[in-house]
This record gives sequence, structure tokens and C-alpha cells, in this order.
Amino acid sequence: MTDHSKIEDLRTAISAEIADAADLAALDQVRVAALGKKGSISALLAGLGKMIPEERQIMGPLLNGLKNQVAAEIDARNADLKQAALAARLASEKVDVTLPLRKGPVARGRIHPVSQVMDEITAIFSDMGFTIAEGPDIETDYYNFTALNFPEGHPAREMHDTFFFPPDEDGNRKVLRTHTSPVQIRTMESVEPPIRIIAPGRTYRCDSDQTHTPMFHQVEGLVIDKSSHIGQLRWVLEEFLKAFFEVDQVKTRFRPHFFPFTEPSMEVDVGCDRSGDSVKIGEGEDWLEILGCGMVHPNVLRNCGLDPDVYQGFAWGMGIDRLAMLKYGMNDLRAFFDADRRWLDHYGFRPLDLPTLFGGLSS
Ligand code: DAH
Repeated sequence: MTDHSKIEDLRTAISAEIADAADLAALDQVRVAALGKKGSISALLAGLGKMIPEERQIMGPLLNGLKNQVAAEIDARNADLKQAALAARLASEKVDVTLPLRKGPVARGRIHPVSQVMDEITAIFSDMGFTIAEGPDIETDYYNFTALNFPEGHPAREMHDTFFFPPDEDGNRKVLRTHTSPVQIRTMESVEPPIRIIAPGRTYRCDSDQTHTPMFHQVEGLVIDKSSHIGQLRWVLEEFLKAFFEVDQVKTRFRPHFFPFTEPSMEVDVGCDRSGDSVKIGEGEDWLEILGCGMVHPNVLRNCGLDPDVYQGFAWGMGIDRLAMLKYGMNDLRAFFDADRRWLDHYGFRPLDLPTLFGGLSS
């Protein structure tokens, strides 16, 4: 066999190995076996040095040609295998854009109906030019009662089933606020009229049944100006009720009532229909009590350093949980505070759907 045909056999054998290499690792083995330091072609090339010049003149170009051809074949196969590997990876990692999105934690979470209703109330009154005021849950007797014209020992204090703290060194007992009305006092003490605030927050009374829980939520409203009057009170409340219940018309009925901090005091009923399973606000012949209100009592204004001959105002208070139950049809208040995920999944709201008047309150 001539050198020439030996080289041809080697070329054929290596070419076949290159073609058979199933992956990049196998191809590299072929490369090392042929062109590596101890590879078959490298060994032949190393032999050139020992040849006589005439022989080398023939074998040199042959062997270098073989080396270059094998290297080129390996490169080509290498590119093919890489391409195939990429294609396989693309196929295995294919994203089906028609699949529904898996919900992330933000989308799975739910806003509690109380928070939702607070946001709705805030949106409505903000739109009317009200700002939000706050006060502490732990109140002094003065802010919760005395400043609001509940005289010491007056039976109206008993109506509130107050949670009292143990007396301090001076014998004063703090309370868990029984209503949001103390925020009226704190606001009048710190803000110059005109005042237009609402104060949503937690309130506490020692009471528990289907419609009462020891902790519940109220929203207080207060307007103080030089010419505030009951007509405005009625307008504000009716506008609120229409916006909140998302109806075009509401009927209201103002009944005389007693609250120490307002004079006159009224309870407001809203027209409703109870004939179906749920109460429908804004239609029907029935009435539903919904809030308490009145003109701020002159004693309350005086307690806050405001002259009742100059300033007057109106106030109201309503139960947020009760509004939520009416609007969204839950019938047991205690479930609000059970922290049951299933209840929240059912009655809760999507976290990024903030209620606005233009975008819809509860859409
Ligand atoms: N604070 C009262 C309550 O909890 C509700 C209330 C009634 C608030 C009349 C007011 C008001 O501001 O004017 O029963």
C-alpha cells in the first residue's frame, strides 16, 4: 500500500467518525484522536522531520492537506451540531403564549371588603373636597365622651358598652374609643375652620352577635363653616349614598333622634326594597336605618374653642361594616374577622382595582 493510499484510508476513516459524532462531546473526541498532541495526523506530521527531503516534499503537502481538510470537516460538523442543539433547546423550551397566565401573588391576594369600602368612601368624599382625619384607638374619657357633651354620669355613656383600661395613678381610665366622633374634637382643636373631614377607623364596644362584633369600623364626617346648614348635610349624605350604592336616585328619611354632641340630632333611613333575597337600596317602599347625624352642638364647638355664634357645622357617623354588608350581601358580621381564606376569596376584591369615581367604585 502506498503512503498515498494510507493517507486516503485515514482521511476516509476520520471523515466517517466526524459524520458519526452524535454530539459535541463525541466530535471533540474525534478531534483529539486525529489532531490532538497524540493524534493520528499529528503523529504522521511529527514523522516529517525524519524523512529525506525528497520524501518530505511529497508527504508534507499531503499530510498538511489532510490536516486542513479534517480540521475544516470538524469545524463544519461542529457548527451543524451546535445548530441542532440550539434547535432542540428551542423546541424543548417552547412557550405556549396561548396558555392562561399563572397568577402571581399580587393577583391572588384579596382586599378585605372593609378595606374596599373604606377606599370607596374615601374616593367619594375626596371627590367632594373632604380630607381624611385620624385619631387614636385608645382614647381618653375626655375625647370619647366629655368633650362630646356627654356629661359625667350621663346615661348616654352607658349606651356605649365601653371597654375601659385599668385606672392610671390619677384614677383616669382610658377607653377603646366607642365611636369615631372623638376625631371631631381632635380636628377642631388643631385645624382652623372651614373644616371638611371624614375619619374612618376602628371602634370598639363590648357586644357580639350576628350584626355586632367587639371591634368594628365607623366613618365620621364633620363640616364646620360660618354658614353650614342642614340642607347641605342632606345634600352631602344623599350624594354619598347615590355614589356608594351606585344608583341614580335615593330616598332618605330624617327622623329626630338624640345624640349628646348634635342638636338637632337625626337618624337617617334610606329607601330600599326587601322583597327579594337581598336588600336593594334606592328602590322600593321599605326603609333602612343607615346613619346618625346632626348639627354640631354649641357646647361641642365651645369645648374646642370655637364660637358657636360665628361657626356652625354638621356631623355624621356610620358603620362601615354595615355598609359593606348591605352593598355586598354578607349577612354575618363575625365572618369579617374570622380570617377565613375561603370567605376572603369569595368576598374580597382584586388588589390593583382601586376604587375611583371615574373608573368605577366596585367594578
Ligand atoms: N357617634 C355616633 C355613634 O357611634 C354616631 C354619630 C351620630 C356620629 C351622630 C355623629 C353624629 O357625628 O352627628 O353612635
